Amino acid sequence: MTEQTPIIAIDGPAGSGKSSVSKEIARRRGYGYLDTGAGYRALSWHVLHRGADTADTDAVLTALTSFDLRLGLEPDDRTVTVGGVDVTRDIRTPEVTAAISGFTRVPEVRAYLNAIFRRLAGESGLGGVVIEGRDITSVVAPDAPVRILMTASPEVRAQRRGLEWGADAAEVKEAILRRDESDSHVLELAEADPGVDVIDTSELDFEQSIDAVLTVIDRELGGRDGR
Ligand code: DC
Repeated sequence: MTEQTPIIAIDGPAGSGKSSVSKEIARRRGYGYLDTGAGYRALSWHVLHRGADTADTDAVLTALTSFDLRLGLEPDDRTVTVGGVDVTRDIRTPEVTAAISGFTRVPEVRAYLNAIFRRLAGESGLGGVVIEGRDITSVVAPDAPVRILMTASPEVRAQRRGLEWGADAAEVKEAILRRDESDSHVLELAEADPGVDVIDTSELDFEQSIDAVLTVIDRELGGRDGR
């Protein structure tokens, strides 16, 4: 990552607001937006497309050698291609989503994807890139000038997801707690490293969450990006 590309690393659990806030920050500041979850989704698609099982680590590692991933960094045009095939929509199917858990815990796979994310951010040529996803502040970009962990109570996260999915809040809360539990085996979800700013969005609406993140960015970057 070059000095010309300040990285804004945003971590947090499902429903913390990190995706929508990160995207909006990128829009307002003219930064790139790197959705690392899309990289995990694309790899799942690629393994399934090859007829392999994502729980078969050897098959996933073999698939990585032909994993030609392109991730658009435009907040409003995030086309994802694998080997030139546009998979932007296909990576959101329930089948692809469910299969990701087959490899999220494999350190070699995470390391490989992390290297791709660092390269994409470094090559962007933009004034800044917001990289969003799990373990971004701790593993992917521990030296980023801005590192933020967004959190929210399980109740608030369940309510937000329930609104998105049109589902019952109690069921969604169960699902969120299950996912936290499964993620927590590999990822430091609630713990922020020293130097990471924690923003609890439980009591904040969208605009207030954005303000809170922009305040940290402006404090940390100061005049670096000309603002
Ligand atoms: O954020 P999302 O729902 O698009 O993420 C898809 C999956 O990828 C999810 O199961 C968690 C995993 N993921 C991860 O392990 N680390 C990341 N940095 C991003 C996503």
